[in-house]
Amino acid sequence: MRFLPDEVEVEIREGESVLELAARAGITLRGACGGDGTCGRCLAVLREGAVRDADGVTLAEAEAVFRACRFHPVDGPVVIEVPDASRLHEHLVLTGGGDEDAGPLWAKESAVPIGRQADGPPDDPLLRRVIADVVPPEPGDGGSRGAGTDDWGRLASALARETGGEEVRADLFVLRELPAVLRARDWTVTADLGTAGGPGREVVAVEAGRAAGPAYGLAVDLGTTTVAAELVDLESGRVLGTLGTYNRQAAYGDDVISRIVFAGEHPGGRRQLQEAVINTVNGLVDELRRGCGIGRDAVRAAVCAGNPAMAHLFLGVDPAHIRLEPYTPAANFWPPCRAADVGLDLHPRAPVYVLPGVASYLGGDITGGLTASGFGTDGRAALFVDIGTNGEMVLGDGDWLVGCSCSAGPAFEGGGIACGMRAVAGAVERVGVTPGGFEVVCRTIGDGPPAGVCGSGLIAALAGLRRAGVINRAGQFEPGLETPRFRRGGGEAGGGVSGGAGLEFVLAWARETAHGRDLVLTGADVQNLLRAKAAVFAGLRTLLAAVNLDQREISRVYIAGGFGRFLNLPEAVAVGMLPDIAPERYTFVGNSSLRGARAALLSGRRLAGIGETARRVTYLELGEGTGFMEEYMAALFLPHTDMGLFPSVRERE
Ligand code: FES
Repeated sequence: MRFLPDEVEVEIREGESVLELAARAGITLRGACGGDGTCGRCLAVLREGAVRDADGVTLAEAEAVFRACRFHPVDGPVVIEVPDASRLHEHLVLTGGGDEDAGPLWAKESAVPIGRQADGPPDDPLLRRVIADVVPPEPGDGGSRGAGTDDWGRLASALARETGGEEVRADLFVLRELPAVLRARDWTVTADLGTAGGPGREVVAVEAGRAAGPAYGLAVDLGTTTVAAELVDLESGRVLGTLGTYNRQAAYGDDVISRIVFAGEHPGGRRQLQEAVINTVNGLVDELRRGCGIGRDAVRAAVCAGNPAMAHLFLGVDPAHIRLEPYTPAANFWPPCRAADVGLDLHPRAPVYVLPGVASYLGGDITGGLTASGFGTDGRAALFVDIGTNGEMVLGDGDWLVGCSCSAGPAFEGGGIACGMRAVAGAVERVGVTPGGFEVVCRTIGDGPPAGVCGSGLIAALAGLRRAGVINRAGQFEPGLETPRFRRGGGEAGGGVSGGAGLEFVLAWARETAHGRDLVLTGADVQNLLRAKAAVFAGLRTLLAAVNLDQREISRVYIAGGFGRFLNLPEAVAVGMLPDIAPERYTFVGNSSLRGARAALLSGRRLAGIGETARRVTYLELGEGTGFMEEYMAALFLPHTDMGLFPSVRERE
């Protein structure tokens, strides 16, 4: 089977859909519904041959357009064209840290920045190279007995001398290699010593002689939408390069739930999802290594951070029970594995760590982020928030930690919104509205003509429309607006439309947009956004109530993730998504998941600290009890039913 215009060929396998074949060919389609056939985003065009769906409907005429997830090829040769609109394109991937750091990079266009410094020199990297001069056996040693006289005992003694007496151990793989390696270069060897999670060190690999070159490590943020990776010098702590790209799992569903469903309901689905994310990481590793001139075997350790579903799928573990009551992950703490075990293209023996999580919807991206952001180090109450399709948050100080995850839905990523789109070039990220809604100014990512509105733009639009008097506190369009931008859906009416369903507001006219159609925000969109922001704020209020804390007692709010990076803080407060506290108490920490992975890579102490944090968080299951639902209902207003919680907004109104 051949794909156009890529000219990539792939062998047809029994039962595989065109979407799955495309994924194997390295072409990622937009499988938003996870192959249910409901989203219509995976359209492909038949150029030659025939395809058939599960009901036996066969398409054989050239130019037929079909859903790639529902059809499989009927023998070969079959030629399929995948139009641009059906492909997953580059996404704005936050690879940097907070305000002070390098900022976002475009996934496919990012160059490898060489030589950026990490937080500091590593105090205890997860892998160290140690050269050891081993004492060879003498004639007559063969008669003595006990530990220390065999090859392993001699190496262990030599390594203990080099490391100040650290206990070392080795597995069968190393012992198989050892006799030949010790004797190949006159009993001088280079050993890779890894942290095995407990006391002492593990000999990961051993080479003859004084092996040249430093060891490198890989830090990875396994995001549902995007994946970011850093190549780090384990000796100096220097970051050699950072890259991000979209997660190829997106071909099997936009969010974690649709991917979990795909993993469980499609034969071989779990394996496909694992391959997709491993291929994504390997693509980044390959580009980083080539950019930095480093061989595969020089990368000798990796730390990955991701939400629990991503961690399961990366490791090939069944995630089904994450979404089924009582929402139980297979594990929160993962044993380290080898790169070869999961198919990562590093030194095959490289230890691979996945950061520990807390519960089904609070994972290593958050525990790593807490550590990387310095959360709670001053002993005062702080809040950590990461907003995506889930709003994950942790409240606490040095002594106690409570966390939760609330479903915000896809609205902040542009899903379920008429003109919504992800944060890519052409997405509106800033919106200004004049009183009465007569004029609107939109600023887009990349400064081109607008094609849609991303999460931060939607929050800005909501705040702007409320401020301009276009929508009321319940999120309904004010009746009797005279602006021509306000109309009944479909564009048939001018200004002066009174209340009712099907109303919309034109953010940009067709002549101004990239696609030549009006860019509108509908009444249904506003309600979707209200529900999303209400879920986030209700989660926060539920945490505060659980520990009997007032929001004014929060000394610092850490906002993590790509959405937070572009969020306009006063607007997020004005719509009632974030608490109304002094702006200087807010800190944007960027991709703290990636920084957490890097921190662990460079320090066994930090890795242990992340584990400690994961154990200490008390997880609140929001579905239990009525507290969350009551808070949610109260938050379905702009900004809230209780204006006392938003004094600065009340003052302005
Ligand atoms: S219709 Fe094919 S992935 Fe949604």
